[in-house]
Amino acid sequence: MMKKNLFATALIAIAAISAAGAAAKLAASSTPIPQLHQEHGATQLIVYGKPFLVLGGELNNSSASSVEFMRPIWPNLAAMNFNTAIVPAYWELIEPQEGRFDFRSVDVLIDNARKHDMRIVLLWFGSWKNSMSSYVPAWVKRDEQRFPRAMRSDGAGMEILSAFSRSNLDADSRAFTALMKHVRAIDGTKHTVIMVQPENEVGMIPEARDHSPAANAAFAAPVPAQLTDYLVAHKDTLVPSVRQAWETHGLKVGASWEETFGAGLATDELFTAWTEGLYTGKVAAAGKAVCPLPMYVNAALIRPGWQPGQYVSGGPLPHLIDIWHAAAPAIDMLSPDLYFANFVEWASRYARPDNPLFIHETGRVSAAEIAENGFWAIAHLNAMGFSPYAPEYLSDDEQKVLGNAYSVLRQLSPLILAAQGTGRMVGVRPPTAFDGTQDLSPQKFTLGHYTFDVHFKNPPPISIGQRDEVEMPGSHGGLIIQTGPDEFIVAGTGMIVYFGTSGVADPLAGIESVWEGRYVNGAWIPGRLLNGDETNQGRQLRVPTGQFTIHRVRLYHYH
Ligand code: DGJ
Repeated sequence: MMKKNLFATALIAIAAISAAGAAAKLAASSTPIPQLHQEHGATQLIVYGKPFLVLGGELNNSSASSVEFMRPIWPNLAAMNFNTAIVPAYWELIEPQEGRFDFRSVDVLIDNARKHDMRIVLLWFGSWKNSMSSYVPAWVKRDEQRFPRAMRSDGAGMEILSAFSRSNLDADSRAFTALMKHVRAIDGTKHTVIMVQPENEVGMIPEARDHSPAANAAFAAPVPAQLTDYLVAHKDTLVPSVRQAWETHGLKVGASWEETFGAGLATDELFTAWTEGLYTGKVAAAGKAVCPLPMYVNAALIRPGWQPGQYVSGGPLPHLIDIWHAAAPAIDMLSPDLYFANFVEWASRYARPDNPLFIHETGRVSAAEIAENGFWAIAHLNAMGFSPYAPEYLSDDEQKVLGNAYSVLRQLSPLILAAQGTGRMVGVRPPTAFDGTQDLSPQKFTLGHYTFDVHFKNPPPISIGQRDEVEMPGSHGGLIIQTGPDEFIVAGTGMIVYFGTSGVADPLAGIESVWEGRYVNGAWIPGRLLNGDETNQGRQLRVPTGQFTIHRVRLYHYH
């Protein structure tokens, strides 16, 4: 244990020194390396010295392994208004023989991204991908002696590299470092690569922890001081389940895992979070030492009621966020792979002052709903980017919907980025439960001296004596940005907005004007002036369904 801790400390120290050196060199260059920066409480990705909103798509796992396959996909991505492609770097292709690196699969991605005016987020499919080790090269797969695997409690082997093996960690770190060195060499000034995800959906399944002899020994040994020091320092802000488990067992330091947190699956999972978090953090630190790009890890989420072992356990999940922060300080953020309908709930759990939100993988709902979630996350939770999974497999119609939504977000990016964290912007999205039930209750927001009552149903046609709102077909969501004391941008789809006042003597708000329009190179190009039937004779702003649109609204207040 002692040896392991010394090794960890030394590695972190070396990484920190060389990361600082690399960072200093790159920061001094005229094109500083992409980095995260906090402004008014919102953490943004800075590319070429300016905030950058990632409007991306994560390609299907195998697409990027073939130049031929990708050829027609690149123009498609560009047509959908993507500014970023999120693509794997496959260890098995990069190091087919030990120590002999072949980066052609990465070079071609960077080259094509540049040709299509896009950036790249690289996913390091290294030791672990969705818990498994299917992307490790054959020379690793075939040498179990040298590269040991995790074990089930019945002693059966698994295709999961053990986090307790120094040779596993060294082999992965060497390959990842070589990749990052290469990225720095070919992209050190252009910065096509803007972020990196080391490993993918780390965690254990179908048991919550590794039961190999090495794992069992570590499990019986004292919880490492690096973790208990963190727990002590962050005692008041720990996630409730970790704090409770630790408190219930007497806030112990220097005791075994079960003595510290109690026996059971929850502790098995904490142990996995720590051990795989530590390993992932060391791989990340080694890569950052040569090319300090922002790095994040991604999590497979949990179905309601599922227990550790039933889902990929120990990953960067919200209830394990403290363990990951303690284990992997080189990781800048934990990100959800958000495929459940209760997007609002999960995204909110990841958006914390100590964890900026990046939605790099989402889907399994219609393209319109995917996009509405994107509007909401970017505007309401200051997400630094958004990206559906496998966009190349969406139908032509769905690609058009996503392209329309991304076009609006791209036009609004300068305004969005200027407004993130300032309190001048809100996201609008009716929340959906895990079972898909949507809550269409109206939502109320205040910006400056005005209130915005957003309904997702049509107003009752009072001229024929109706009182009830009428179901508005399609889906709903968007954003509102304050651009002046009386001026607002309202964008999105499927919303009816009623206006009121706040903090002024006048109780009523009226519409001075509503223009539909678009931004071209940052300049507003007005379309129709909307009035009459289009605003229900000045009563509401109607953001139509079936498309994503931008409205520029001027309001006034009166008695
Ligand atoms: C989440 C993983 O991170 C992706 O690589 C991919 O396997 C998707 N799941 C598939 O839904």
